[in-house]
Amino acid sequence: MAIKKRKKRIKIRYEGVKFLTYCFFGLFLILFILINSIKIYNDYQYQKTDEYKIQTMGYSLDEAKDLVKILDDDIREFLLTNPKEDIYYNIINEKYFLKKNYLKYIDYQKTHQSLDLRTIVALVNTHASDGWYNNTYKTDLTKNNLILVNKFYQLEEDYQRDDLVSIPLQYSYSGNKAASEVVEKYIEMHKKVKEELGVTLMVNSSYRPYSDQEEIYKQFKGKGQEYADSYAARPSFSEHQTGLAIDITSITNPTSTAFKNSQEYEWLKENCHKYGFILRYPDGKETITGYSTESWHFRYVGEEVATKIKNENITFDEYYAYYIE
Ligand code: DAL
Ligand code: ZN
Repeated sequence: MAIKKRKKRIKIRYEGVKFLTYCFFGLFLILFILINSIKIYNDYQYQKTDEYKIQTMGYSLDEAKDLVKILDDDIREFLLTNPKEDIYYNIINEKYFLKKNYLKYIDYQKTHQSLDLRTIVALVNTHASDGWYNNTYKTDLTKNNLILVNKFYQLEEDYQRDDLVSIPLQYSYSGNKAASEVVEKYIEMHKKVKEELGVTLMVNSSYRPYSDQEEIYKQFKGKGQEYADSYAARPSFSEHQTGLAIDITSITNPTSTAFKNSQEYEWLKENCHKYGFILRYPDGKETITGYSTESWHFRYVGEEVATKIKNENITFDEYYAYYIE
């Protein structure tokens, strides 16, 4: 009797273990199918993403992740229909890269393969790649001390700011005016140069109305249009009309060549930002500014911006395109 009961208990236990084993395997199977279905579904969804599609064009996962950040419809279309080239990714890592110009950089590089990417970005951002005086725009006067006037941004013929003041004669040759803040800062700078170097700076030319610029440009044009355009702005395209630009020389070194080789010029290059000025047309930036080096032409933009422009070694045109426009 006791043996019979024991056998029955063993049988029940065996059935229980069997049942639990089936349950375990059943559950395992369901989980396996579920996990794999989720994976297949996720893969399917991922294949629909731009990140995946870009990788199918030969870009790495990291490159694809970066490219996705700048995608708009045009760039997506471009990347997915053109076999990978290094520039398509490398250009987005350039410091002054602007997403809105992506396709223009690529286009411009195709016809200017010898240029490095930094130059391509600078030329496109500043419109220099469009060719001088092509596609001109009205200067945005709301930018105050930061208004941009160059071969693409022009002033109205009758534009004249209302805070022009005469520069006192101990600091300037006669008849020169500039915006009051500019005159104040220039005088501070003048005094510092006098104190440190014993040299007297003088302003040769500053505010010029449209009619004066017209006259100057006409004189330069006597030597040919290309020559004129590399030294003088066409009327309404001159910073001198803004009242924010001053041409500086010194009593000791009055000619442009002497001034360029002088200690006062070195001092100004090093220190003018402390007074809010920048050297507007520096050496080596001719393709961006459109002008030959002018060691005399200083532009007021305020201390903060002047310091940034100096530290980043960029032109005002590049600064404007990247930080303001
Ligand atoms: N010389 C400068 C570019 C001007 O004419 O405004
Ligand atoms: Zn000038």
